[in-house]
Amino acid sequence: MIIGIIGSGAMGAGIAQVVAVAGHDVYLLDQSATALEKATAGIASTLRKLADKGKISADAAEASIARLRPTTDMRDFAGCGLVLEAIVEELAVKQQVFRQVEAVVSAECMLASNTSSLSIASIAAACQRPERFIGIHFFNPAPLMALVEIIPAVQTREGLAEEVRSLVHSWGKLPVLTKDTPGFIVNRVARPFYGEAIRLLEEGVADMATIDWALTELGGFRMGPFALMDFIGHDVNYRVTESVFSSFFFDPRFKPSFTQKRLFEAGYYGRKTGRGFYNYAADAVLPEP
Ligand code: NAI
Repeated sequence: MIIGIIGSGAMGAGIAQVVAVAGHDVYLLDQSATALEKATAGIASTLRKLADKGKISADAAEASIARLRPTTDMRDFAGCGLVLEAIVEELAVKQQVFRQVEAVVSAECMLASNTSSLSIASIAAACQRPERFIGIHFFNPAPLMALVEIIPAVQTREGLAEEVRSLVHSWGKLPVLTKDTPGFIVNRVARPFYGEAIRLLEEGVADMATIDWALTELGGFRMGPFALMDFIGHDVNYRVTESVFSSFFFDPRFKPSFTQKRLFEAGYYGRKTGRGFYNYAADAVLPEP
């Protein structure tokens, strides 16, 4: 099956790598040629490093790289069996993209969104054939994180979730079926995790390096909340928080914080811009707990 991926940022590039390694030909589309170049160079470099370390064979790495087809032209999706979107977390933009996709793909082509927080039903509603629409939500970095949430919408045809679950399983992932509710499983549980950490900081209970240290060293988390938010990106993470908050009819449990909103407004998105809660400039020294 040929797979089309829209958006070659952190998630789209990671997912493209996963499906190329699994043996699919992949059209990776982005509106930005620079983003595409960065993504394809990044995937090629990662796969060659894995080959150097003996984790995959050099032939497998080169074959996967050869299956990747970067493009800015959606007409390349004509032969795809699945198109998965990983662009900006804005409903209207995602809806518009799927209108364009449906004008190109066959009636059988499955459509999926990697949204973290938007309702799958609301994206599917923009489609002419919403019954072929589903959520496939990967975690960052997609090649390393096993969990994938599979989210059928109310419009999704019976049987599609099971088909998608087997497909995702065949990519070496651990799919879990969830209902179409704000944040699904992980992003819903994660909202109070981030929110409470920011409140600790705002109340001066501890500084962020100490909170991150406590949760990794003592709590057993792989990353502390501030390092993780910086890794995800505040453009993505803040939008997800806003979306979950409004989708739960402004339940105060999910209330966003001004501290994160200001980072978002300032363009301090985290690692991707060199500054977030922490400063990632080459000469900056990360605070010690
Ligand atoms: P990103 O900002 O790294 O990449 C988005 C890419 O989409 C950019 O390269 C941009 O040029 C491209 N793009 C934007 N609008 C487009 C359009 N109309 N047509 C074609 N390309 C377009 O974003 P990221 O982090 O990869 O997130 C993408 C999606 O995945 C979002 O919906 C986000 O909520 C979701 N997600 C993000 C996770 C994360 O940890 N960053 C984890 C799981 C899901």
